[in-house]
Amino acid sequence: MVLAEEKKSLIAEIEKWKKKRNAILLAHNYQLPEIQDIADVLGDSLALARAAEETTADVIVFCGVHFMAETAAILNPEKTVLLPDLEAGCSLADSITAEQLREWKKEYPDAVVVSYVNTTAEVKAETDYCCTSSNAVEIVKSIPEEQEILFLPDMFLGEFVKNETGRENMHIWMGECHVHAGIKAGQVDEVLAEHPEAELLIHPECGCSTSSMYLKSEGILPEEKTHILSTGNMLKQSKISTAEEFIVATEVGIIHQMEKQNPEKHFVAANPEAVCPFMKMITLEKVLAALKNNQPEITVPEDIREKAKLSIDRMVAIG
Ligand code: 13P
Ligand code: SF4
Repeated sequence: MVLAEEKKSLIAEIEKWKKKRNAILLAHNYQLPEIQDIADVLGDSLALARAAEETTADVIVFCGVHFMAETAAILNPEKTVLLPDLEAGCSLADSITAEQLREWKKEYPDAVVVSYVNTTAEVKAETDYCCTSSNAVEIVKSIPEEQEILFLPDMFLGEFVKNETGRENMHIWMGECHVHAGIKAGQVDEVLAEHPEAELLIHPECGCSTSSMYLKSEGILPEEKTHILSTGNMLKQSKISTAEEFIVATEVGIIHQMEKQNPEKHFVAANPEAVCPFMKMITLEKVLAALKNNQPEITVPEDIREKAKLSIDRMVAIG
């Protein structure tokens, strides 16, 4: 933990180096509070991909995980994309390799591939459509109904999309994020019993999302108080809702932003242990070091980049 004075001077140094490098700081909603507080853009995966595409900065400091910085590098080959800690990976992105995907495609040669943005550039290069949690339903809906789909790598998001679209010809990879999968239906029930008036905000990657969808469809969980959303849309919902209390089923880092934007409302984590160790690797010290050294830089080989970009471009064109 850095002391208040030390923190202030670190932030001042970061600002100085940002100007020097003409850099922008993009941060995901799960980042440490002090990183969220200095971000130029804070958002979900889609918002950050869009910001990376639109920025006029020369350097993008990505405060998030490897696949996010890689997506920024795919979209911006002419810019320097820095990831302050190269160890900031993702258990979900690690759940499928390009080789495994190639083998899966051989089993379904006529299928199109829809990959969640939480994948490596090599996997995206084998993909037809990329998607994020905020547009996965829209992307799948845009694909002709009779077209078979391979959806990867998250099984809970896949089930959510299948349920929302009523699609039967969708094959789902059995991958998961260890943080979200650890948020179980039983835990949500317990918290809900303690806070019966609370609105429920659930990320579709959660282990509890499938049962919540079922309970919502059966009317056991009230329709107007149960929302399965991307992190960006969870933030929007917590703002526009008239509820005073919310149960948050996702990585707990987002609660900092919810409290900041809604000081009069109360937020309870469905599972306070849902902490992504990769997201928390990015610290103020590492951000400053990255700016000073202009590294670690994330680059993607041109042949992979070109193919991967097609799947991201298709996503951006749809939603
Ligand atoms: P979103 O922020 O796009 O909802 O994704 C969550 C996630 O998995 C980031 O790790
Ligand atoms: Fe990956 Fe899960 Fe961490 Fe998101 S929360 S970066 S999906 S491991």
